[in-house]
Amino acid sequence: MSKFLTTTAVAAILAASLGGAHAQESVEVLHWWTSGGEAAALDVLKKDLESKGIAWQDMPVAGGGGTEAMTVLRARVTAGNAPTAVQMLGFDILDWAKEGALGNLDEIANAEGWDKVIPTALQQFSKYDGHWIAAPVNVHSTNWLWINKAALDAAGGKEPTNWDELVALLEAFKAQGITPVAHGGQAWQDATIFDGITLSLGTDFYKAAFIDLDPAALGSDKMKEAFDRMSVIRSYVDDNFSGRDWNLASAMVIEGKAGVQFMGDWAKGEFIKAGKTPGTDFVCMRFPGTQGAVTFNSDQFAMFNVSADKKAAQLQMASSIESPVFQSAFNVVKGSAPARTDVPDTDFDACGKKAIADLAEANANGTLFGSMAHGHANPAAVKNAIYDVVTRQFNGELTSEEAVQELVAAVAAVQ
Ligand code: GAL
Repeated sequence: MSKFLTTTAVAAILAASLGGAHAQESVEVLHWWTSGGEAAALDVLKKDLESKGIAWQDMPVAGGGGTEAMTVLRARVTAGNAPTAVQMLGFDILDWAKEGALGNLDEIANAEGWDKVIPTALQQFSKYDGHWIAAPVNVHSTNWLWINKAALDAAGGKEPTNWDELVALLEAFKAQGITPVAHGGQAWQDATIFDGITLSLGTDFYKAAFIDLDPAALGSDKMKEAFDRMSVIRSYVDDNFSGRDWNLASAMVIEGKAGVQFMGDWAKGEFIKAGKTPGTDFVCMRFPGTQGAVTFNSDQFAMFNVSADKKAAQLQMASSIESPVFQSAFNVVKGSAPARTDVPDTDFDACGKKAIADLAEANANGTLFGSMAHGHANPAAVKNAIYDVVTRQFNGELTSEEAVQELVAAVAAVQ
């Protein structure tokens, strides 16, 4: 009964905002989902809206992690021409909300009871000043390994459970004549590996360093150890890694040219798009030493202030995104877990089921942390300061000792 009332209330809200206008409703959407797997997932949303009579104006800005998209967005808003909805991560959403640029989704969120089904960890980025400003689409996490199954089998078939076993596996891949680590040298990808490495050195350490920005943790021997491990990983990438897009690195693992990629679970979208099956063609596992903990990032569509004639379509888009059916259909393709806690895992593959279970476990155990690399630990200024040090060290411009010192100084300078 209450479900019926809720559905009716939502329909009434949307009908009222449509106001009987017959012009074609549309949403203009800025995003960075341009790889094969990402585009396939986005298509689920496009088709859903088109089936509701809402046209999709696409504004793709290529560049994994969204750095380039955020630059284009700034230019658009400065020109007084904000899109309807923008794919956005964590603290960036709050920064735009602070500027007063975002609209209010309360009427639809309250009518649909989002409060009860969207986890608090996401709500802290979907709400500002108590008001809903963004619609969360998914929950990704960064502490994953994507391994070519045939290469793993040729190396003995055992998943590495700690750092030493991981290095032994990389050696075995080298002996097979393949590139041990598929990687793209871009700051956000380097930082994504750093998420996994630092988390594997302890959940307290990760929290102290990247959530609390504690100078003692940032300047610790453990942090030096983390950088040392980055140098080890660096020694296993191929000569052409610089600037390579993340999905091309995924393709190296898919095609058996490389052994493993350290990447968030959007990588799974590429494997699935290529017709590969978990457990048969590839293996997904947590970064060794991080099982039980999760560094997450949630893609949300931040809704910008739009003119009255565009509001109904914007609310409809938000409503569609939060529908449980859409949440399942989209995230099955994208590689992420749903942004609602009440979506069954029935349609998800083994890696998807694991993502959902790991997330629930980490959330219950207090080991769920925002990803430093993907804007969920700190605002962009801090994130970029960390990126800079991590990338310079990865590329051999800084020793581990120098990187630790620079990290403390760089974080202090932007706070
Ligand atoms: C992440 C985003 C994912 C995926 C990835 C690579 O920041 O959350 O959805 O798009 O970048 O582009």
